[in-house]
Amino acid sequence: MTTTLIKPHGGTLINRILTGTTRDNHLKQAENAKKITINQWAISDLELIAIGGFSPLIGFMKQRDYQEVIEHTHLSNGLVWSIPITLPVTTSVADSLEIGETIALYGEDGVLYGTLELEEKYTYDKQQEAQLVYGTTEDNHPGVQKVYEKGEVYLAGPIYLLNRPKHDEFTNYHFDPKDTRQLFSDLGWKTVVGFQTRNPVHRAHEYIQKAALEIVDGLLLNPLVGETKSDDIPADVRMKSYEVILENYFPKDKARLAIYPAAMRYAGPKEAILHATVRKNYGCTHFIVGRDHAGVGDYYGTYEAQELISQFEDELDIQILKFEHAFYCEKCKNMATAKTCPHDKKYHVHLSGTKVREKLRNGESLPEEFSRPEVANVLIEGLKNNRGE
Ligand code: ADX
Repeated sequence: MTTTLIKPHGGTLINRILTGTTRDNHLKQAENAKKITINQWAISDLELIAIGGFSPLIGFMKQRDYQEVIEHTHLSNGLVWSIPITLPVTTSVADSLEIGETIALYGEDGVLYGTLELEEKYTYDKQQEAQLVYGTTEDNHPGVQKVYEKGEVYLAGPIYLLNRPKHDEFTNYHFDPKDTRQLFSDLGWKTVVGFQTRNPVHRAHEYIQKAALEIVDGLLLNPLVGETKSDDIPADVRMKSYEVILENYFPKDKARLAIYPAAMRYAGPKEAILHATVRKNYGCTHFIVGRDHAGVGDYYGTYEAQELISQFEDELDIQILKFEHAFYCEKCKNMATAKTCPHDKKYHVHLSGTKVREKLRNGESLPEEFSRPEVANVLIEGLKNNRGE
C-alpha cells in the first residue's frame, strides 16, 4: 500500500549528502581547500541540513535569512522558520577565508564532515539574538550562554555532507527523514504524531502520547540525542529507557523510535516551532506541544510555547496537539489534567526534574505514579554505569 505523505517544509526534501564519484571528487577538492574545525553543535546542524531535517535549508543561513528569522520568525522567501541555523567562527578564522572559496569542515576528531561554499560572512549582535530567540539576555540561560561563547562572525552558504557523524550507540534507531517517510508509508500510517523529548518517557509523557495515539495511526518517538546541558540525562541511558517503555507499554505496530540528532537550544516557544517544522520533514502530520516545551528554569510560561506556535499553525501545515500539564491523581487513580480531574492539587503527584535526577543519582526508585518501574530501573542502572560504578 502506498500512502500520500505530508509535504516537507517548502515542498522538497533536501538531500545534501554526497556519495559515489561526486563524493570522491569533493574529497579530492577538499584536500586543497582551507580547513576549519567546527564543534559538535555545528556538526549536528550540518547533518540535519544534509539529511533534509532542516528542509528547505541547503546551507548555513545568510544575513538576510538570519535577520528575518530572528526578527519575524520567517525566512526571506516567506516560509515560517524560528531559530537561526548558523556557522559561527572567530574573527581571525573569518579573516583568513575568501568569499567564493570552498571550505573544508573538520570535526574536533579530525574527521572531514563536509564542505561549505562560502557566499557570505557577517557579524551579528549577540544580545539581539539572545533576546529575540531566547527571550532573555541572561547568561544563566544555557542557550544564551552558547550564544555568548560563539565566534563573532557567521559563515554562510550551501553545504555538502561527506562523512556521516557516527551515532554508533543508536544504529538501530538511526533514520533520516526519507527513511521515516518510507517507514510510515510501508506501515500504512496516514497520520503520525511526532514526540520530541530530551527526557526519559515518564507517565505524563506516556499519557499525552497515548491520548494522541487515540486519534492518529502511529507515533514517532523522536528523542533529541545531540548536545544537551550537563545535568540532563545522557542520551545513551535515555535510549534504553525508550526501548523498555515501548516494549512493555505500547502496541508494537503503533509506535516507532528514531533519534533526532540535533542540539538542544532550550529556546522554549521558538524551539517548539523548529521542533514541529523538523518533524513535518520527518513525515509527521501531528506534533505534540505540552507544558513548557523545550523550556528551562522559569524562563518561559507553562503554555507560552503553545501560544506562540498557535500563531503559526496554519502556515506550518502540521497539526499541533496541545496538552495541558498532566499528572497522576491519587483520587482519580489515573493520569489526568486540569481538564479532566476535579480534585485538589494535594492529590496530584508531582516531581520536579531536579528532584527526579537527584533520586535517580542516589539510586532511589521513582514513585510508580510518576514513572514506570522498568523505566526507573533502567535509569538507575544507566546512571550508575555512567559514573563508572
Ligand atoms: S523538551 O524537549 O520539551 O524539553 P520534555 O521531555 O521536557 O522535553 O518534554 C517533551 C514533551 O512533553 C514536550 O512537548 C513537553 O511540553 C511535554 N511534557 C512534559 N511533561 C509534561 C507534563 N507533565 N504534562 C504535559 N506535557 C508535558
